[in-house]
Formats: sequence, structure tokens, C-alpha cells
Amino acid sequence: MSTLAVIGTQWGDEGKGKIIDLITPSFDAVARYQGGHNAGHTVYVRGRKIVLHLIPSGVLHPGTLCLIGNGVVLSPRAFLDEAESLKKLGVSIGRNIVISKNAHLIMPYHSLLERISEEKRGAGKIGTTLRGIGPAYEDKTGRRGIRVVDLLDAPTLKDKIRDNLAEKNPVLERGGQAALDPDKVFEEYIAYAALLAPHIADVPLLLDDLIREGKSILFEGAQGALLDIDHGTYPFVTSSNPTAGGVCTGLGVGPTRIQAVLGITKAYTTRVGSGPFPTELLEDTGELMRRRGDEFGATTGRPRRCGWFDAVAVSYACRLNGIERIVLTKPDILDAFEDIEVCTGYKYKGTPLRGFPVESWVLDKVEPQYRKVRGWRQPLAKTTDFSKLPAAFKDYLRIIEELVGARAAIISTGVEREDTILLPERLGGILDLDKIRVGS
Ligand code: GDP
Ligand code: IMO
Ligand code: MG
Repeated sequence: MSTLAVIGTQWGDEGKGKIIDLITPSFDAVARYQGGHNAGHTVYVRGRKIVLHLIPSGVLHPGTLCLIGNGVVLSPRAFLDEAESLKKLGVSIGRNIVISKNAHLIMPYHSLLERISEEKRGAGKIGTTLRGIGPAYEDKTGRRGIRVVDLLDAPTLKDKIRDNLAEKNPVLERGGQAALDPDKVFEEYIAYAALLAPHIADVPLLLDDLIREGKSILFEGAQGALLDIDHGTYPFVTSSNPTAGGVCTGLGVGPTRIQAVLGITKAYTTRVGSGPFPTELLEDTGELMRRRGDEFGATTGRPRRCGWFDAVAVSYACRLNGIERIVLTKPDILDAFEDIEVCTGYKYKGTPLRGFPVESWVLDKVEPQYRKVRGWRQPLAKTTDFSKLPAAFKDYLRIIEELVGARAAIISTGVEREDTILLPERLGGILDLDKIRVGS
């Protein structure tokens, strides 16, 4: 058995999709454990861009089993649309995709309710993806959620839709939305049942079988540690646990089954939606990062907020997840900068802080302390040999590693699988490198 959890160490969009696609050949199965189609994981294969939202990013490799765990909230419509568009690209979709019986469903009222709640918040809105993720998790913890398994029993599904709509229709109407007809919702979802049924299984049992057979499994995180419902910048977070503990609850595997955790870390910082962002650059420098990094949401197309690398935030993420190894992504975006700043600490009212503050009003007002690093001013893209990287980049990398307390085991220098530097001596055997193809 060999298992690895891959986790975003910032506010999402660190490049998880690219790395998961790259390392999938080293695994027999790839399993999503939280989130839903709020995720946008971009993979390029020979110049062709593919964005995965709900289906694990290992799907492009034939023969890889793709699992969607109970911790995921699943929109059947989004799943079927994504499966269809992948099929059109020639990707095989069949028994290779397995959905957990006890994953919760996103229902049509969830995104409508979310719209109402975001509007009500006005200037204080979260800036969610409006995919119904938060309201679906609210129903899950409120013990009124509808699960994938309920699709397989028509009377149960009918009752649950009726009970939920009895509660939700008045809220929809108060919020200026039309009430939903329980019969219509039932008809829509019972039609999905037939299409989803071949994919539905007992995922924890299947995972246990795989582990006992000595198969290797990749646990795919969506979002990032700072969007975690418990440890992120609450309330400006998503409604699930992207942090490593989410693997156990979101897939039904014990903590002893997670052998290593790999953090995906962008060489600068981005954030979509509202909430505190201490190192945000609001003027030309941020604009340059956005333009060079093509920092626009892979799900909603919104411009991503950009800023300098925040070592306080990433070291917090490494601590929360037990991360010892990171993948540094997108350093090539910084090629154009004469000087690069790294946030080494926060001060609040003039006093240095220890750790990452959980009070949003403190994080809103912290004074980031910066260390200036000389830029390398030469293209990193397509470099596949560590020894050929410029000395100024190696300095930047070393500073980041020291500040966050983890070592870079992979460096990504472009969007394609080939634009990657693997450092075998730092990977410590967590990947079967004979199976991974990088370099030209
Ligand atoms: P994810 O949500 O963590 O999978 O990340 P996204 O796909 O939302 O955003 C990352 C973006 O950066 C995607 O457009 C990737 O194609 C791109 N990307 C990933 N790694 C690199 C890299 O090393 N260099 C460059 N230039 N782009 C990268
Ligand atoms: P990947 O997997 C970046 C953000 C939203 C919003 C907050 C809550 O591609 O890294 P939600 O719809 O989840 O309730 O929105 O979380 N958000 C993401 N930001 N990358 C993501 O996913 C995100 N998924 C949600 O913008 O601020
Ligand atoms: Mg993304």
C-alpha cells in the first residue's frame, strides 16, 4: 500500500489539478474527499485545456479508478454534464467512476437559497461560487440532507424532497424566488437515479479492499487549507474540510492509512471571493501577476485577487496538515519581477504575532513584514533540470522552505505535465518515479 494526500496550502487554485494529473500514474485510484463542483482543477494535455470540477483529476489516465467520497456534495446535473463533456474528449467514463452511497446531494433549492443569503449579506457577502455548496452542507449537518443512496429508493426520495420543500419554499418565496414543485424535483432526480446507479457503491469498503490488496491511492483535496471551515479565514471559507483530517471523515479511511501529505503551494498568493488577504497587491504589481498568471477563476471566471507569498499563511497550512514536502507551482510567473517580496511575519498594533490569527478583524488589520528578494529576471518555463535554475530563484526557494518549514520536492514551471522538475532525493519514495513522465 502507498497512499498520499494532496492538499492546497493557500486559498485554493495552487495548481492541484496539474500536479494530481502528473502523479496519477503512480496510483491505482484517485479519491476526492470534500467540496463539490465549486472546485476548478485545470489540466493541460498537449496544449489542450481541461477543467475538472467534480470528477477526480486522475480521470484522464485510463485504468485509474476515480472515487467520489461521502464528504463530497454532489450535484447530479453537474456530474452528468462533466462526464458528458469528458466523453466527448475521448475520456473513458464508466465503471472507473465510483460515487459513495452516503455523499450528500446538491438539490435545485440549494443554489437558490445561496443566492438569497449572499444578497442578504450585501457588502459582507462571502463571494461564494453560488453552486449550492454551503446550503447542501448546512442540510447535511442539520440532518435533513438527501443522500446519493436515497436516489435508489423512490418513496424515500419523494418524502425527503417533500419535507425539505415544505421548509424551504416559504424561504424561497420570501427571498423573491418562485416555490419549487416537489413532484417536478422528484421527477428530475429519479431520472438522475437511473443514470447514476451504475456508479454508486460503498466507497469505504472499496477503499479498504484496495488498501488490503496493496493498491496505492491518491487523496485529492479541493480548495485549500485557508478555506477550511474550521481552520480557514472564517466566515470567508468554504463549508468543508480541505485539510488532511477531511480525508478520514470524507472517505471513511482511518488516519493510519494516510502515509504522506503533499502540500501544493503557489510561488505567490491568490484568493477568489471576499475575506482578509494580508499580502494582497491592489495596484500595478497585482495586476501584472494576474495577467502573467492568467489568474481568473477556473469555475466562475472571476479575476483572482493577487499578492506576495505569505509564509505565515503557508507555514500555518503546513502545521495543520503535517506537511513536510511541498510542490512549488508557478514560480515562472515571477520571472518579470525585479524584486520579489516574501511576507515573513505579521504585526498587529505594532506587536509581532505568533501563529495565524483566527480573528478576522485582526487578520484584516495585520501589518505584513516583508523580506525583499532579488528577482531572477530570466524565464523558468520549460526548465526541467534543477541545476540549471538561476541562483536567485534557488535563493527564493530556500527562503520559502525555511520560513514554512517544508522542503520543495517538485517544482512546476509551466502548465503542461512536462514542465516539471522532480527532486527524487526529496520525495522520499512517496511516488513511483518510473511511472511518471516529465521532461522532453
Ligand atoms: P487548482 O484549483 O489548484 O487545480 O488550480 P487551478 O487549475 O484553479 O489554477 C491553477 C492555474 O495555474 C491553472 O490554469 C494551471 O494550468 C496553471 N498552472 C499550474 N502550474 C503552473 C506552473 O507551474 N506555471 C504556470 N505558468 N501555470 C501553472
Ligand atoms: P479549487 O479546488 C478558490 C472560494 C469561493 C468563496 C469561498 C466559498 O479550484 O482550488 P463556496 O462556493 O465554496 O461556498 O465558496 O471559497 N472557493 C474557491 N476559491 N479555489 C477553489 O477551488 C474554491 N472553491 C471555493 O470563491 O470565496
Ligand atoms: Mg481551481
